[in-house]
Amino acid sequence: MSGAAVKILNIVGARPQFIKYVPVMKFLRFLQSSSETSPNDILVHTGQHYDYEMSKLFFDEFGIQEPTYHLGVGSASHAEQTALIIQRVEEVLLKEQPEVVVVYGDTNSTLGGALAAAKLPIPVAHVEAGLRSFNREMPEEINRILTDHLSTLLFCPSASAVRNLTNKGYEHLLNAGSFIPPDYFTSPQVSNHVLVDANDQYVVNSGDIMYDVLLFAADKARSQSSILDRLAVESKNYLLLTIHRAENTDKADRFAEIVRFVNSVSDGKKVIFPVHPRTRPICEKSPARFSPNVRLVDPIGYFDMVRLLEESSMLMTDSGGMQKEAYWLGVPCITLRQETEWVETVETGWNVLYKSYVGTHSLPQQQRNMYGDGKAAQRIVQGILHFIGQQKIV
Ligand code: UD1
Repeated sequence: MSGAAVKILNIVGARPQFIKYVPVMKFLRFLQSSSETSPNDILVHTGQHYDYEMSKLFFDEFGIQEPTYHLGVGSASHAEQTALIIQRVEEVLLKEQPEVVVVYGDTNSTLGGALAAAKLPIPVAHVEAGLRSFNREMPEEINRILTDHLSTLLFCPSASAVRNLTNKGYEHLLNAGSFIPPDYFTSPQVSNHVLVDANDQYVVNSGDIMYDVLLFAADKARSQSSILDRLAVESKNYLLLTIHRAENTDKADRFAEIVRFVNSVSDGKKVIFPVHPRTRPICEKSPARFSPNVRLVDPIGYFDMVRLLEESSMLMTDSGGMQKEAYWLGVPCITLRQETEWVETVETGWNVLYKSYVGTHSLPQQQRNMYGDGKAAQRIVQGILHFIGQQKIV
């Protein structure tokens, strides 16, 4: 491939996407500083999340550049929010004409961005492809299924995510669906014969990009976060709680059930609960009350969250990312959902669904390498560049 600058356009909008973008940003910056391939990184923030603690805080913490475009879509119904994203992303894409659009995870920003791109048509790379809860009542599940359908490059975080796609007929599996070696896309064996047709869909087991983030952030979290002092908690002497899924916050009965569960599991022990803005009004309105040992605090940044999680005695959460962070940090996790996309954490005993919790949760001795090696971003960026290079040759 020649040294001509290609444009890679990244779409983010919700809190976990700012975090998932960081390793891609870093690898792109590394390429910009170290090689003649100097891909242009265009960052689009849809504005789905807009509170300081949900957005700007993460840009500041991770040194993310000011987005090239801020679309300011804000809160609205699913249809309206997604429609605004499609419309405004399309304007940007028409202007920028990037070679590839990268979307992350399963939010309305993921789907809206992917749909606008695929229709132009600009190839879409989906980071965190193939995850399924098999529960279509979740808006995230709809977003995942559709985004995978729209994508040309499907970067899966785990073997089970690859399996979910092959079960649905996705057939172009790179490296037969196994975790790819780090230099896969730059190795001579692969050079000219994969990722050649923009009408095909390519499934890649890249490993989980959230592990990239945790690996470089954990030391900084340990050395720099003062969150334990600020909240006056002691190591292993409190539980950590997060709740934000619509399935838990939008139905009064379910929310009450979760509140009762948390009260009973914590049994008077201190619980720290950083409250997502979606959840705050429900906590205030619901007749179901957390017991006084549950302390509600504002949303916190990534480094504080990693520190708070690592020092907690147990996590209760409905967040996808935090289930794995608990696993990587060796903290027992109870997932406040009926099912999880991160099935390996449950199968290997690191995570338990709250309906199956029987009063204790003892962890296995050994961790297995279920989500790659923390170099997912390298594989993803090199895969994208390989694809762009092939496209130019064809
Ligand atoms: C979204 C994603 C979900 C992801 C989560 C991470 C969808 C369908 N859902 O859920 O997959 O796990 O982000 O946080 O895309 N709000 C604020 N301030 C903010 C952001 C949201 O007050 O900065 C409030 C608004 O009242 C809004 C509500 O939270 O209506 C829900 O926000 P929304 O963007 O729809 O989804 P999340 O619940 O954050």
